[in-house]
This record gives sequence, structure tokens and C-alpha cells, in this order.
Amino acid sequence: MADSTVVPHHIAIVMDGNGRWASRRLLPRLVGHKQGVESLRRCVRACRERGVRVLTVFAFSSENWNRPQDEVSGLMELMAMALAREVPQLAKEGVRLHFVGERAGLSDKVRAGLAQSEDATAHNTALVLNVCFNYGGRWDIAQAAAALAQRGEPITEASLHAAMGMAHVADPDLLIRTGGEMRISNFLLWQAAYSELYFSDRLWPDFDEAALDEAISAYGARERRFGKTSEQIQAARSA
Ligand code: IPE
Ligand code: IPE
Ligand code: MG
Repeated sequence: MADSTVVPHHIAIVMDGNGRWASRRLLPRLVGHKQGVESLRRCVRACRERGVRVLTVFAFSSENWNRPQDEVSGLMELMAMALAREVPQLAKEGVRLHFVGERAGLSDKVRAGLAQSEDATAHNTALVLNVCFNYGGRWDIAQAAAALAQRGEPITEASLHAAMGMAHVADPDLLIRTGGEMRISNFLLWQAAYSELYFSDRLWPDFDEAALDEAISAYGARERRFGKTSEQIQAARSA
């Protein structure tokens, strides 16, 4: 990529399309999810190489519990396995892991895996990787409001933001969804208020470095106005 490319500080991704990737090959859906882990590994490395500082991925939604039971238990197993296999390398590469979502409702084994992975990477600074797991944007807003109410604190935009699961990072600059659907599916409802949206028809296992570069260059061509006029933005840029 050219040096002049504007690289987003924070990229968020709805990693969609694993099931279809597998079905097209007449394989079980879980094979697609396994391939999705490979794709995530590649994406983490590519983001780090390009200077992205925060990557947030949607791995399991509050609503994904409604899938067939064998797929849900397969996904839970895969999470535990992927952590055991991938975390040592991520730790070496300077990646700091955070899990965002409701921990209650997860098995002891998965919960322990999440906590251990966070501890093992807590001192890293090259890239923050937030994995949204058992996460829903509505859950996050509601749990933040409940926590403030419980503490008797006023509910403001700033206090809600601080009580939410993504308070440790700036809001996403670029939000990518793979798999061709044009919806948010309860991801980062609060934090994506001013994210640039980018929809890719590629299924998540096929989302490679070139596809990431396309998304980043599309982002670079956007004008982010945050409610201002284009003239104001141009004037600030040339000042
Ligand atoms: C996204 O892929 C991963 C999860 C939701 C866990 P899907 O499993 O939704 O794949 P499609 O949309 O059925 O192809
Ligand atoms: C969103 O994908 C959740 C994840 C990628 C983890 P879904 O496949 O669950 O979304 P819908 O059901 O098509 O909206
Ligand atoms: Mg899907």
C-alpha cells in the first residue's frame, strides 16, 4: 500500500459467512467456523503490519444461542481450542486480547480461557484485539445503564460510554461486514455512531489481505464530517 494511505486507528468487523463458505463445499458449518479462525489470524497480522492499533471482531452474538444446539456447542469448543492454540503466538506478536460480552452463561472452561488469555497478553501494546463474544449492542447499553443505576450515578452520554464494554478504546473508524448482508445485527450500536460502514460480498474465510486493503482504501476516500459541512472540513484540512 502507498504511504499516503489513511489507515484507520480502529477497525471493527462482523465476521459473517462462515456457514455459507462451508455449505458451498458440502462441508459441515463448523468447518467454516474453523476456517474463520484461520482468516482471523491472517487479519490480525495484516492489521498489525498496516499500523491499525485496535481490531474489534464479532465472534458470537447474544442471538447466536438460537442456532442448532450442536452448532452452538461446536462454537464454544472452537473458542476454547482456538485460545489454547493461538494465544501464545498472539502474545509474542504484541497483541493484547480483550473479551467483550456477557460472561455469565458461558461454561467455566470458556470463562477461564478468556480470563487466562487476557492475563497472558495484558502487557502487550502493538495491537488491541477485542473479541465480542456473547455480545449484543443492546445488552451492552442496558448493562451499562443498570450499573450506573445501581451505583446511583447520573446517566449521561459520558457515564454510559465509560460503563460500556468498549470504554478502553476509541470508537471504531471503519466497520466492515463480510458475507454480503447489509445490517448491523446488534453489533456496537453505541460505538458505531460515526463509523464508516463497508460491506463486502466476500465470505469471512475468503476475506484476505487484498480485501482488507480494498476496505482501507475505500475508507481513505470517505469524508468524515461528524455533522459539519464539507466546506468546514476542507477549510480545517488546508489550515
Ligand atoms: C458468522 O458466520 C459466524 C457466527 C455467527 C458465529 P455465520 O455462521 O453466520 O455464516 P453464514 O451467515 O451462515 O454464512
Ligand atoms: C452476526 O452474524 C454475528 C456474528 C458474526 C458473530 P449473524 O449471521 O448471526 O447475523 P444475522 O443473523 O444474519 O443477522
Ligand atoms: Mg451469518
